[in-house]
Amino acid sequence: MERTLSIVKPDGVSKSLIGEVIKRFEGNGLKVIGLKMIHLDKKEAEGFYAVHRGKAFFESLTTFMSSGPCVVMVLEGDAAISKTRELMGATDPQKAEEGTLRRQFASNIERNIVHGSDAVETAAFEIKYFFNALEIFSD
Ligand code: CMP
Repeated sequence: MERTLSIVKPDGVSKSLIGEVIKRFEGNGLKVIGLKMIHLDKKEAEGFYAVHRGKAFFESLTTFMSSGPCVVMVLEGDAAISKTRELMGATDPQKAEEGTLRRQFASNIERNIVHGSDAVETAAFEIKYFFNALEIFSD
């Protein structure tokens, strides 16, 4: 069993894709064990994406991520990290496989509707960033 953190980003929320994203995850063996809607401020978005500080897209990304509410969730399942990433597709929707969430719904590499942790250590950091132990429900 593995855990990962996913976010329906502000563009995904405004395109009414919360249900669609959760349906893909749940329909593919992932269990939602934590869920909330939040509106990040700029500092909180910068803290979440701290590994990207200094990159050309950091300012624009964190402005976008703090531009509206998003839905954050903890997913649990076998190979949850790679499964989530497979369902999302590549970061750049033009490079994402047919049928993936980003290929179907994302506008561009920044506004790509959904985020998923990329490794075990990142998942641990990202889950802790949004959820405390009392907000996660696992058997
Ligand atoms: P995400 O999976 O949330 O991880 C980092 C985010 O930075 C990524 O999705 C994109 O939204 C954004 N991103 C990554 N690379 C670029 C890029 N080259 N230009 C703009 N945004 C990017």
